[in-house]
Amino acid sequence: MINTAIIGCGYWGINYVRLLQELPQARLISVCDEYPARLKSIQQRFPNLTVTTQIEEIFNRPEIDAVVVATPAVTHYKIVKRGLESKKHVLVEKPMATSVAEGESLVRISDHYNKILMVGLTFLYNPGIEMLRDLVSEPEFGRIYYLHCTRTNMGPIRQDVSSIWDLASHDLAICNFIMKWPPIWVQANGGRILNHQQDDVAFITICYPGDVLANIHVSWINPSKVRQVVVVGSQRRIVFDDLDISERIRIFEKGIESKPDEVNNFGEFKFLIHDGEIRSPKVPVEEPLRNQVEHFLKCIETGCNPISNGRVGLDNVRLLSAIDQSLSHNGTRISLDGDNRVATDSRTIALAGSTRYSSAA
Ligand SMILES: NC(=O)c1ccc[n+]([C@@H]2O[C@H](COP(=O)([O-])OP(=O)(O)OC[C@H]3O[C@@H](n4cnc5c(N)ncnc54)[C@H](O)[C@@H]3O)[C@@H](O)[C@H]2O)c1
Repeated sequence: MINTAIIGCGYWGINYVRLLQELPQARLISVCDEYPARLKSIQQRFPNLTVTTQIEEIFNRPEIDAVVVATPAVTHYKIVKRGLESKKHVLVEKPMATSVAEGESLVRISDHYNKILMVGLTFLYNPGIEMLRDLVSEPEFGRIYYLHCTRTNMGPIRQDVSSIWDLASHDLAICNFIMKWPPIWVQANGGRILNHQQDDVAFITICYPGDVLANIHVSWINPSKVRQVVVVGSQRRIVFDDLDISERIRIFEKGIESKPDEVNNFGEFKFLIHDGEIRSPKVPVEEPLRNQVEHFLKCIETGCNPISNGRVGLDNVRLLSAIDQSLSHNGTRISLDGDNRVATDSRTIALAGSTRYSSAA
């Protein structure tokens, strides 16, 4: 039995309260939120729970093995650092930190204390995304041409981080998960439409080896809620639509390829079009957050490295930081090749101080 606590019980944290009460392999010992009214409503719903407004009360209890942190992003670094230093395993919501230096520090501290640091990149525990990755890896998919992700909705609007750090963190994780290889450059444009200090909308392009492009559009000011990932290949196009509960994955057996034209042998190409059926395979009905929490508990029990471990979370933060750099340079390409020289392409500037971007362990 793993003794757990939760810090931060707002919109998202309450889901962890429910799950850690339900899962037989965990015991939820205490819940912390700095806002007393929130704790009062939690106690009304779960009368047996101990609650506190003081995070140190959680960290000072030796019987607590693991802590879930679901506070706003800007608070993650300090809270997670204290958690690891108090020798707790930590599952922190995305983004893990709000700077590369903070992310690197957290990975170092978790290594030092030999404690699990896992990041809530929940879509990596979504059976539809797992199926998408498997389908794209099959030879029948052909060559990956490009990816396109859309994540729009009306809110929730954050004050501490931009729509990119809040929303695109998921899509960046999904693209890396599918591509299984780190990207080589990133470029982004954004808009501060509501006149506060954060980008409300962004259009991000990342490039993987082999010139495979991924485009990500995020917005928290679009009244239409979309959660979609499309992968276009030479033989197939696959659509993941998280809001379509009956057809979460659709496979379009359609594609276009270019082949050298052997009749008119003048270096010309002809285009071959495949036009087959459309299928919707059955995606297991599972709650991604439950899968994520179960994975965290299993990693604590077995000592396994989580899918979204601290290094994956750090990679995510590196990409988010590179996107910010691109935004502050009017959409310039930011190289992720890891060495600090300015790339030969004058449109590309190197990401200063980065190490080579590493893929999921
Ligand atoms: N993985 C996902 O799909 C997903 C979805 C939504 C939110 N999130 C993430 O969850 C985190 C929280 O988001 P939210 O929407 O629940 O925010 P929220 O503002 O609704 O809740 C945050 C809670 O943390 C509390 N808090 C803040 N600072 C604290 C501190 N120092 N000590 C104790 N409590 C503190 C606040 O009082 C509040 O109740 C964010 O990192 C967000 O990105 C993830």
